[in-house]
Amino acid sequence: MNCCIIGLQWGDEGKGKIVDVLAEQCDIVVRYSGGANAGHTVVIGDEKFALHLLPSGVLRENVICTVTNAVVVDPETIIKEIDGLSERGISLTGRLFISENAHVVLDYHKMEDRLREESLGKNKIGTTIRGIGPCYADKVGRSFAVRMGDFRDLGALEVKLKTIIEYKNKLFGALYDAEPINCDELFEKCKSYADRLVPFTIDTTELLHKSINEGKSLLFEGAQGSLLDIDHGTFPFVTSSNSSALGMSSGSGVPAKLVDKFYGVVKAYSTRVGGGPFPSEQDNEIGQYIRDKGHEYGTTTGRPRRCGWFDAVAVSYSATIGGIDSIAMLHLDTLSGIEELKVCRAYSIDGKETTFFPANVARLEQVQCVYETLKGWEEDITGVRNFNDLPSNAQEYVLLIEELTKVPIIIIGVGPGRSETIFR
Ligand code: GDP
Ligand code: IMO
Ligand code: MG
Repeated sequence: MNCCIIGLQWGDEGKGKIVDVLAEQCDIVVRYSGGANAGHTVVIGDEKFALHLLPSGVLRENVICTVTNAVVVDPETIIKEIDGLSERGISLTGRLFISENAHVVLDYHKMEDRLREESLGKNKIGTTIRGIGPCYADKVGRSFAVRMGDFRDLGALEVKLKTIIEYKNKLFGALYDAEPINCDELFEKCKSYADRLVPFTIDTTELLHKSINEGKSLLFEGAQGSLLDIDHGTFPFVTSSNSSALGMSSGSGVPAKLVDKFYGVVKAYSTRVGGGPFPSEQDNEIGQYIRDKGHEYGTTTGRPRRCGWFDAVAVSYSATIGGIDSIAMLHLDTLSGIEELKVCRAYSIDGKETTFFPANVARLEQVQCVYETLKGWEEDITGVRNFNDLPSNAQEYVLLIEELTKVPIIIIGVGPGRSETIFR
């Protein structure tokens, strides 16, 4: 069986935890999009792992891990992750494979990301400054792109880098009065990246299809969230890849029809980092309570996450465009202690109610949430392992969301650890 894990909100839903839990039953985990903007946390006992580029399946020692074509690979970050895991006794030798066709994030991408965000002032997107947008832009532009396979031929890469740096220096100098990038220094760095990463670099499409033919089971790990999808999210406050379920096949080279189950991951409330509309946001003591209790600070940037009520309109949209079969809802424990809970069941736009999410930002900015109100619960639920043992108000909360999203909720998170999970 092959399955795919997708965030249905604005990222940070808890995909890392769910991938780690489900990876126990699979042979290969496939990270297929995004870059080091992602931060996937896995908690095992007292140990915490924050992964940016390596698939979360990496913590299961007999699982093969692949980083496929549509991922933008920051060599510095991935080398740091490989070394960090090795220091903690987790070896990747012989089980990590990076696509030769994946694009490479270099220093000038991060520089451009930062310079552009600074120049936009209050109109900035609020990116993670990991060079994601500039790298994907170079990929689409083709002429100045560097792929992982380019590290195999350093002579050709040196010539290519000279052309790229000449262009970037003219551009950044003219637009931002920036210091020129030193091409020789960058090339030296590339030589060390090549040393470390060429041994992992292969044709991952071939590996995945051979593995499928051998009956191996694949787990596709989405990054970011569906509402950050470049084509279907809240543009321009999105990332630069297809981070909804729709990006899985183009990102990996495996057709969606070979995936048996698409699991959507949500939190029991909503969060968002960076700019952009967030209709159910609670910029008040409720939002602060959730932020404190749920430790809602970015895994990648440490920024406080904006928090709000669960938005069933937004999640239904993500589930619909993604063909989601079932939902894993995490952080139910974080809502313990809130007297009254709200769930957004519809939007009101110009006095009319709708349950279809308008991804167009100009329209989304005008919506008012229409809420259902439910009674909360006081109990600490982190020790609960059966749905029927949850306080009845917590059960009703889950059932209401299931009814509104029309997708069965089959996994519930009551804490960050592997075992703090309820299967229904
Ligand atoms: P991802 O980007 O989707 O993998 O999510 P992040 O790792 O960025 O953020 C999710 C955070 O919630 C992490 O710190 C997880 O350890 C934590 N977490 C996951 N599931 C649960 C849960 O059910 N309850 C609580 N309290 N924390 C959880
Ligand atoms: P995971 O995989 C939450 C957000 C940024 C910003 C926007 C664009 O951990 O869920 P970018 O650096 O991609 O150009 O930033 O997207 N963003 C995320 N938010 N979780 C993520 O990843 C994110 N990756 C990007 O905060 O608003
Ligand atoms: Mg995250």
